[in-house]
Amino acid sequence: MSELRFDSVSLQYGSLRAVDDVSLTVPSGQVVGLVGESGSGKSSLAAAAVGLVPPTAGRILLDGADIHRLRHRKLQMVFQDPYSSLDPRMSIGESIAEAMPRGTDKRAEVARLLELVNLDPSRATSLPARLSGGQRQRVALARALAGRPEVIIADEITSALDVSVQGAVLNLVRDLQRQLGLSMLFISHNLAVVRYVSDRIAVMRSGRIVEEGTAERVLTDPQHSYTRELLAAAPSRHTSLWEDAS
Ligand SMILES: Nc1ncnc2c1ncn2[C@@H]1O[C@H](COP(=O)(O)OP(=O)(O)OP(=O)(O)O)[C@@H](O)[C@H]1O
Ligand SMILES: [Mg+2]
Repeated sequence: MSELRFDSVSLQYGSLRAVDDVSLTVPSGQVVGLVGESGSGKSSLAAAAVGLVPPTAGRILLDGADIHRLRHRKLQMVFQDPYSSLDPRMSIGESIAEAMPRGTDKRAEVARLLELVNLDPSRATSLPARLSGGQRQRVALARALAGRPEVIIADEITSALDVSVQGAVLNLVRDLQRQLGLSMLFISHNLAVVRYVSDRIAVMRSGRIVEEGTAERVLTDPQHSYTRELLAAAPSRHTSLWEDAS
């Protein structure tokens, strides 16, 4: 499908360099987990990829083409807060339909997408206020998928949710990614969450990628002391909540 590549990207807010010379590839059809403490620059990197904030240096490429020249639908983002990401005055069906390409049979496609994220299609007429946080994140995923993207950037999409529903949303993300062959940059400050969905893991600190590799390698043989700190702080694979939820 599609490869997303950051090529020596830097991003500055005034004198603060939030992203510092980052090179990172999300290979086609794979999930790259981006982990790092609060303020390390993860969301800034994502914002640059979707064109919300222009990078001050470097290039961002989708299948080799500069992202700024492309129609943005190919790359969709899902945000942390399911309460602010949906328009409270629009039914969830309308919110999803709004993101569809012209000429789509909207009613049928809304029903298909709701089923895809395990929501009853009869929910299409509900307002977001009627939904739980977990259900809203499912709608946000359906809305992102409505644009038929090739790459999804998911930024802390389970962080605002009750622990009890995080596992189900993570399972859904993993299933959808595999089923649709999506390439995904999956961002979280929580290594336990990242390792549940990722093929590869990149570790970010103070605007830089300090370590990157297959999830297996980074988790079993971390090279950077900061990665070892994160690993020590995360619950082990065997006691992880999400293993039980699957
Ligand atoms: N719009 C902005 N204007 C000025 N500074 C910003 C802005 N957005 C982020 N920053 C700063 O840039 C740095 C990186 O922030 P960013 O939100 O990218 O980190 P993050 O890794 O996503 O953190 P978190 O885990 O808390 O979401 C921080 O020092 C932050 O305070
Ligand atoms: Mg962030």
